[in-house]
Amino acid sequence: TAAKKETFGSRNAFILAAIGSAVGLGNIWRFPYVAYENGGGAFIIPYLVALLCAGIPLLFLDYVIGQRYGGSSPLSLARIQRWMESLGWWQVLVCVIIGIYYAVIVAWSAMFLIFSFTKSWGDDANAFFFGDFLQLSDTVAVGFDFVPNVFWPQLLVWVGVLVVMLLGVRKGIAGANFIFMPLLVVMFLAMVVVSLFLPGSLDGLNAFFTPDWGALLVPSVWAAAVGQIFFSLSVGFGIMITYASYLRKKTDLTGSGLVVAFSNSSFEILAGIGVFAALGFMANAAGTGINDVVDAGIGLAFVAFPTIISQAPLGEVIGVLFFGSLLFAGFTSMISIIEVVIAGVRDKLGIKRWVAVTVVVVPMAIISLLLFPTSSGLYVLDVLDAFVNQFGILAGALVMVIAVSWIARKLPMFSRHLTRLSSFPARKIWMVLIGGIVPLALIGMLASELIAKTQEVYGGYPPEFVLLYGWGMSGLLIVGAILLSLLPWTARVQPVFDDA
Ligand code: PHE
Ligand code: NA
Repeated sequence: TAAKKETFGSRNAFILAAIGSAVGLGNIWRFPYVAYENGGGAFIIPYLVALLCAGIPLLFLDYVIGQRYGGSSPLSLARIQRWMESLGWWQVLVCVIIGIYYAVIVAWSAMFLIFSFTKSWGDDANAFFFGDFLQLSDTVAVGFDFVPNVFWPQLLVWVGVLVVMLLGVRKGIAGANFIFMPLLVVMFLAMVVVSLFLPGSLDGLNAFFTPDWGALLVPSVWAAAVGQIFFSLSVGFGIMITYASYLRKKTDLTGSGLVVAFSNSSFEILAGIGVFAALGFMANAAGTGINDVVDAGIGLAFVAFPTIISQAPLGEVIGVLFFGSLLFAGFTSMISIIEVVIAGVRDKLGIKRWVAVTVVVVPMAIISLLLFPTSSGLYVLDVLDAFVNQFGILAGALVMVIAVSWIARKLPMFSRHLTRLSSFPARKIWMVLIGGIVPLALIGMLASELIAKTQEVYGGYPPEFVLLYGWGMSGLLIVGAILLSLLPWTARVQPVFDDA
């Protein structure tokens, strides 16, 4: 039988866990290069517009759904309208996919933290990362040739996740955030400060902040801003619904949301400063321009930073601070992803926490360990990430806003709920954003994404590879979500429909 509903002991524990989820790899390695490539200093405008008009309103929506309906995302959404349960399972399955590859990057961060002490990468960080460490093959294949360097740390990450999840919401999730978040803040601030003292750092900052105003006329820049905000705030795919379901009924939701959103953005801007200061040093040392050293994607963290660490005075210190930050930021996000899945399974089957944890974490760990520590693992990760981020999160958010505002017509009631308890009102403007502006923007982004992905094979991979891990995975998620929503609930957790 299901145990009594768990809670976060206090509002502060909730806020800390929500910040822990939001602040992740997206802030530290994704934001700096996305901003740089999309107008540099001018990116701040689309970024702020996306934050205020889509990110924060959606964060409020997730909170009110989670707190009001008090369940995992399938259960909470089913309580709004029966069919919406499938949307909840879509979000759960998106979290399954993100979780299995997020663990991989957390594991790499842990290894590079250790490598930093001895600068194990030698003079050629690129060859080290792709060759010695990942043992990436040139041919893209679906293979199972294991790379032990990657396998063992990944196994340890999963064991860590298992332990935290078994300890529960209060001791496990809140506890891990109480330990890791202060560590993260201290290490990260220290990293930024140390980077600012490197010779050449100002050139990096100039490159980062110099605005390219023309970028504001480019639609893809605006899409990049919305995409960054969604990923970064973890909105629209069940995470904040799940965490808010562990809140007591009288918590200031909008006030909490603003704290979370602004903390997350501060982290991003600071990461931009720290990362570009370090890149400025690297360009300076190499005698090249910043453009030559900015490496979009994985390479920024695992190739450019090691190079900086090798060359900089006190490089080891920078390395430990940087990879330590990545590790702690990644781990606290990782547990929020997994909790979405655990909560969904637990509600549906009416089982005890430890049973749900076991049936969720063990299979996910096995899949993750089979897919990624292989010589093609990085390619699999890249395709899964591209499809699940663009379609998974955007499509889920789109269906959710349309469902609650146009179909179930819950916005007036949600607006009253949010405004009654909270320090910051969410009235007309909020309803217009959620019911009008956000869905329209999402439709536009999704359409252009769909066109881009159907016109040419993503990333230049073999077509059958993208067919399997991109389109196949997406199709499986849709079918899976529908099938799961057709299974009966256990007698104890019948969805009770909304009163209004
Ligand atoms: N918001 C996190 C970040 O910025 C990423 C994340 C994605 C966290 C999905 C949880 C779930 O990195
Ligand atoms: Na973030």
